[in-house]
Amino acid sequence: MKTSPPHSPLPPGVETPGYPHSPFTIPSPCFVLEEALLEENLAVFERVQHSAPVRVLLALKGFSLFHSFPLIRKTLRGASASSLWEAQLAVEKFGGELHVYSPAYRDEDMGWILANASHITFNSVSQWERFRPLIGRSPSPPSVGLRINPQYSPVETALYNPCQPSTRLGISPEYLGNLLPEGVEGFLSHNLCESDSYALEKTLINIEHFFGHFLPQLKWLNLGGGHLMTRQGYDVEHAIKVLKEFHNRHPHIELILEPGAAIVWETGFLLSTVLDIIPTSDVTNVMLDVSFTAHMPDCLEMPYKPVIRGAHEPQQGEKVYRMGGSSCLAGDFLGDYAFSEDLSVGDRIIFEDMMHYTMVKSSMFNGVVHPSIGVLKKDGTFEMWRQFSYEDYRARLG
Ligand SMILES: Cc1ncc(COP(=O)(O)O)c(C=O)c1O
Repeated sequence: MKTSPPHSPLPPGVETPGYPHSPFTIPSPCFVLEEALLEENLAVFERVQHSAPVRVLLALKGFSLFHSFPLIRKTLRGASASSLWEAQLAVEKFGGELHVYSPAYRDEDMGWILANASHITFNSVSQWERFRPLIGRSPSPPSVGLRINPQYSPVETALYNPCQPSTRLGISPEYLGNLLPEGVEGFLSHNLCESDSYALEKTLINIEHFFGHFLPQLKWLNLGGGHLMTRQGYDVEHAIKVLKEFHNRHPHIELILEPGAAIVWETGFLLSTVLDIIPTSDVTNVMLDVSFTAHMPDCLEMPYKPVIRGAHEPQQGEKVYRMGGSSCLAGDFLGDYAFSEDLSVGDRIIFEDMMHYTMVKSSMFNGVVHPSIGVLKKDGTFEMWRQFSYEDYRARLG
């Protein structure tokens, strides 16, 4: 999926493969956020919010590294949460609007959510009906929305396609009838993933086509995530035009976006170290101090091959390296890669673009040491935000 070249310069103190004995200022393994690159991404959303009638939220499911929230909060209006815990994190660390959407709510979570959310979206009419009496008794209830299925998604991988046949996510037009349930003020449509502005345009066309008769009644329309406005080549001007045109047709509807990945796209890396090198008849296995299944699960789930700084596609006759995780899962490897110099034990391997859907999804499977988390500041200094210990591993299990 991620084919664009990394745009981050080599951070000071981090060595590329081929320089194994230099002093390492960043301990391995470590997720490293690059502050300057995050600011560049935020500038894109600043421009979008300035030029189009839209508010942008951070989807915590994609990125919830709260040490960076003060910076992100300068630009984004609030957060979107998909569970009680994400909602609690949003209130504690982010502030601003809190939009909550969960595929299914638990009774016991609803009191807190109703007391704190500015917007709440239900995935089905039955969940809306279940909690409607509680909302009615709530002193200052959030604005209520329903998740719709716009009958279109450009996503081809079923694991990430919310509009696949018989989907459990979102309400199809035939299940909504002709009248919006009383009290419903908004719609949420999430059908994109790493998508362009033309997919956004098609989404809006579909919403007008399938749900157009509800639009006069709506106060807000949340267009979910998947708007990869920070990818090189994304036509931001076209997205602004599309949003403006929709607004001109429906000026009473507030537009909201809640991207996750796009906020931190290509703003940091996962630093790892070669622990062992195991040759076989065709490839050379590299054992790393990180694990794809535990720390970069999307690489195996999507699947996609992450960019490694300084590596390239193997050419005829070159030594072929396969990057192996240090878990015991047989399939915990990815390849193939080639390097201009042979790898040695102790070399650093830098996986690019490892901020979104990594820390939020990582596990302590196999007891593999969990990568630390830190930031490379604009002045070139490194600040450690979190290191993990055996006690963290044990605390998850009892
Ligand atoms: C409802 C909803 N909103 C927002 C997002 C964020 O999407 P992305 O990180 O692709 O921008 C997701 C991702 O799954 C989602 O399900």
